[in-house]
Amino acid sequence: MTLNRRQFMQTTAAAVVLPSFGWASYPALVAQEAVQQIAPEGFSKTRVWTYGGRVPGSEIRVSQGARVQRRLSNTLPQPTTVHWHGIRIDNAMDGVPGLTQDVVQPGSSFDYDFKVPDAGTYWYHAHNRSMEQVARGLYGPLIVEEAVAPDVDRDLTLMLDDWRLDPETAQIMDDFGNGHDLSHAGRLGNLVSVNGRFDPAYSVDGGERLRLRLINASNARIFDLGLDGLTGWIVALDGMPLEGPLEVSDRFPLAPAQRVDLIVDVRAEPFGTANLVSFERDGSYGLVRFGVSGPSKPARAGITPLVPNQMPEVLVEDTPLHRMEMQGGAMRWLDTARIGETELSGQELAQLGRFWALNGNAERPAEPFLDVQKGTTHRIEFVNETAFPHAMHLHGHHFRLILQDGTLGPWRDTVLVERGQTRQIALVADNPGDWLLHCHMLGHAASGMMSWFRVT
Ligand code: C2O
Ligand code: CU
Repeated sequence: MTLNRRQFMQTTAAAVVLPSFGWASYPALVAQEAVQQIAPEGFSKTRVWTYGGRVPGSEIRVSQGARVQRRLSNTLPQPTTVHWHGIRIDNAMDGVPGLTQDVVQPGSSFDYDFKVPDAGTYWYHAHNRSMEQVARGLYGPLIVEEAVAPDVDRDLTLMLDDWRLDPETAQIMDDFGNGHDLSHAGRLGNLVSVNGRFDPAYSVDGGERLRLRLINASNARIFDLGLDGLTGWIVALDGMPLEGPLEVSDRFPLAPAQRVDLIVDVRAEPFGTANLVSFERDGSYGLVRFGVSGPSKPARAGITPLVPNQMPEVLVEDTPLHRMEMQGGAMRWLDTARIGETELSGQELAQLGRFWALNGNAERPAEPFLDVQKGTTHRIEFVNETAFPHAMHLHGHHFRLILQDGTLGPWRDTVLVERGQTRQIALVADNPGDWLLHCHMLGHAASGMMSWFRVT
């Protein structure tokens, strides 16, 4: 429709007279500075970057198939964007600067508007200078509710983060360019928070059944988690329901960006405490306390699996196999790698803060790693030639793990590839657009582990 000039003038005039009626405006998502008690009481509050004034940003909770609309307003001193991690999203809304949108400058805004096809536990986070912006607190949970929810007494999102705070001032250390971090395990912190607090406590009833949605928002920390005073099942990974719930009998890993949904029953005695436990080199620590206040309810029977999302069928027979070599880092230093067309020596790369490469590229290359037709199935083989684990993430798609015996494993959007390991995944490239593929140890992504694929 074209408006003639007089109509155009009328439209603008109306907008000026009635600013709150003329144009639909999305709910605000304001990227802003704030202060928050991250370290234990007694320490100073920490200056953080937030969505809406708190870390994590407020939980966005919608029904499956609904639309999410948010106007990102950037009041921070750096340009930013928002990525909706794990959502099989319309490419234009994926939030990747230089690939799907321009950065949102300080003082500017951007309207995000997309549908959420799958139920599950997702999250959103900054995707410009992510290594710094996510570390400063720019993340929040995005929960998509299934039409038929499982029978639980409480649904609790627990967002884990690993902060590097100055022990004197409790402020975020701003050594983001630290070459040692970049070339080793990434930026590991010295204080773990859950939902933006150190050692939070929740009060529960004995026998209460909880759905715990764990999200790892850390830059680099791989959690090794366990339950104490709680028994139950893993029911979903990276948002996607497992065909068969997995009883938790041991520790389970949670790499950066990954999610685990648990359904657990409180087994601790009345007035006792149950814990989500983190196992570390020097011992185990409670991350979250569940204080049992009330008397015990009777124990419940087993559970039924979550209703699956509608995912494409994956047939791996005769599908092309694409090899992605993960190279570099401390102890396996790069000999050479490319930035654009230029082949640089390991030393030259190190001077540019590049320590890693994917198939010989130490930066997102001009040409995609894969250029495939919509609807085709592909296998990717991640060959980890480095001395460190990496959490490889694909945008816009979930993929299936291919297990050692060749059978299909669970759906994921981020796969942990251990040092020296080779892991295959199967991808149905059904979402058109240009999509990133990168390590979610954010310092590794910034120092070379960044690629992309195109679906047309
Ligand atoms: Cu969670 Cu490219 O990101
Ligand atoms: Cu990595």
